[in-house]
Amino acid sequence: MGEIASLLDVRNEGGILIITLNRPDKLNALNRALLKELDEQIEFAYSSDAVKGIIITGSGAKAFAAGADISEFSALQPHEAQLLSQEGQLIFEKIDKLTKPVIAAVNGFALGGGFELALACHIRIASDNAKFGLPESTLGLLPGYGGTQRLPQIIGKGRALEMMLTADHTTAQTALSWGLVNAVTTQEELLPASIAMLQKFFTKAPTSIQEILRCTHLALETSGTSFLQESKSFGRCAGTEDFKEGVHAFMEKRKASFTGK
Ligand code: COA
Repeated sequence: MGEIASLLDVRNEGGILIITLNRPDKLNALNRALLKELDEQIEFAYSSDAVKGIIITGSGAKAFAAGADISEFSALQPHEAQLLSQEGQLIFEKIDKLTKPVIAAVNGFALGGGFELALACHIRIASDNAKFGLPESTLGLLPGYGGTQRLPQIIGKGRALEMMLTADHTTAQTALSWGLVNAVTTQEELLPASIAMLQKFFTKAPTSIQEILRCTHLALETSGTSFLQESKSFGRCAGTEDFKEGVHAFMEKRKASFTGK
């Protein structure tokens, strides 16, 4: 299955599906085509007995994923933006709901949608150069792939709001102290450490693993209403002048100047 994927590099190592986001020249930004391939791989993981767990990581030394692909935002109408958000939410919720453990091996920038992808994974392990952030407010948007819902659950409301409202980057060490990541490793050790954690899980009873994941997901389940509100808010933001300014400013590599319109 994975061999034909082009925006993902996929291999199965002893029951661990290692999915590498593979657009290093664009810092593995999540465009629609890549998200579609990711969705296919997750569906495959649901149905295949050959997959016992998943690691998601990024190619290159610089990024896990630097967000949704901003170049696909430029002509986005509000209703299309809402739909885009809903499509992303659906894929990420499939990851969150999977009853096979999923680790995000965060090997660099995890920003915007890239950070939200890591948040949808069950566990995050970071290399020491990792940087986490939600820059959407710099673009006139808000996190639209479940980030407004999952981040406060993981690090608490105050820190989550600080991250979203400042758009500041958080280092791997701070992320560790906040409980955002389970461990920090060197870049070389990141994959081996992620594999070792999954292999340790695999020594336990398979049904226990499955049921623990199912129940823990239920404990933190976000209601459909709040996901829908996030998508609607994403669409609302996409109808503003500030959104156009934010996207143009990014493409032109300058600072945005917002007017509140
Ligand atoms: N969407 C589309 N392209 C992106 C991207 C994104 N989210 N993030 C990075 N890229 C592209 C850049 O446009 C650049 O392409 P180019 O070489 O054709 O100009 C390439 O990836 C390398 O990025 P660059 O900005 O030159 O690297 P940098 O080291 O100077 O900065 C970041 C790294 C992560 C700080 C910067 O790329 C960034 O701020 N990215 C956007 C993050 C963001 O706002 N994400 C949220 C989206 S909702």
